Amino acid sequence: QKRIGILTSGGDCAGLNAAIRAVVCRAVGTYDWEVLGIRQATQGLMHSPPQAIRLELENVDSLRVAGGTMLGTTNQGDPFAFPMPDGTRCDRSEDIIAGYYQLGLDAIIGIGGDGSMAILRRIAEQGNLNLVAIPKTIDNDVGVTEHSIGFDTAVNTATEALDRLHFTAASHSRVMILEVMGRDAGHIAITAGIAGGADVILIPEISYTIANICHKIKERQEQGKNYSLVIVSEAVRTEAGDPVVITNRLGQCRYGGIGDYLADRICDCSGAETRVTVLGHVQRGGTPSPLDRLVASAFGVAAVDLIAEEKYDHMVTWQNRQVVSVPIPEAIAQYQAVDPSGTLVKTARGLGIYLGD
Ligand code: F6P
Repeated sequence: QKRIGILTSGGDCAGLNAAIRAVVCRAVGTYDWEVLGIRQATQGLMHSPPQAIRLELENVDSLRVAGGTMLGTTNQGDPFAFPMPDGTRCDRSEDIIAGYYQLGLDAIIGIGGDGSMAILRRIAEQGNLNLVAIPKTIDNDVGVTEHSIGFDTAVNTATEALDRLHFTAASHSRVMILEVMGRDAGHIAITAGIAGGADVILIPEISYTIANICHKIKERQEQGKNYSLVIVSEAVRTEAGDPVVITNRLGQCRYGGIGDYLADRICDCSGAETRVTVLGHVQRGGTPSPLDRLVASAFGVAAVDLIAEEKYDHMVTWQNRQVVSVPIPEAIAQYQAVDPSGTLVKTARGLGIYLGD
């Protein structure tokens, strides 16, 4: 008989609830364990008493299709330098460890991306916590796993956006630019760009020139195609290599604005009328795709089985049609950018899409 905790950490995405459901089905339904859902990532453990709810089979029935995370999450506030109300920063890692022991947990499942995983692992090592990890991120940049929860739904959303933009672009003879997420990696842009019929795909892994983008647009015009679709990943830099970031009043920086930059330059260079759509957090919300539900379910079951085997400090991954576990440090060490000589890049170029260089 065990009592386990589960938390979701970092940016939300579709499929997190399906993973929570799978954990509860396996842990409560098969092993008859107790599952506590921790609120707001590690912040729920910082509180005294810790903020957690007992998850029963009947709580999770409808979670398969629900977007977001019923537990809440945050990607602000590194616990090792936690922002305090007076503007200072404070190491709250010991509070999190105390929360784990106060709840009487035998193990904890952390669902997160590479950043969250590194933080959770550091805390687990420091406090001797039994941690098992499940990868999620729409950015799909966690190494060693072919799928991370949330990516497929984000790609579906971006592809649907391109499909829709296609018609309005053609009607108005415009160049439509779709800016998508992905943080430092171009996986969403290249995957949705191929699936959604983009004419130009720009990803941070490969440089580009405005002249070559305009050449592609002109080439299409000469073929009687009076419109073009450009998909650009948020981390793409200016032609000169400068990052495009937005800073808010709290001093937090994030990518954003590369679409507008491109719209101006492409208009100047080609004379085409340009419009920009920034897809933003729409990519993170919504009902998970069937693939994300499947991956989340398989990961949830496998994570609980790892705890049953007391195989801690491991992350579940998807490799060659199987769920296999790897040590968390190995997973964190292998950041996955788009491979500039990989199949997707070759496919895009083979289709005649301009992809930079
Ligand atoms: O990592 C997921 C992600 O959606 C990135 O693609 C994006 O850059 C970032 O999170 C946005 O974070 P926030 O929720 O803080 O706006």
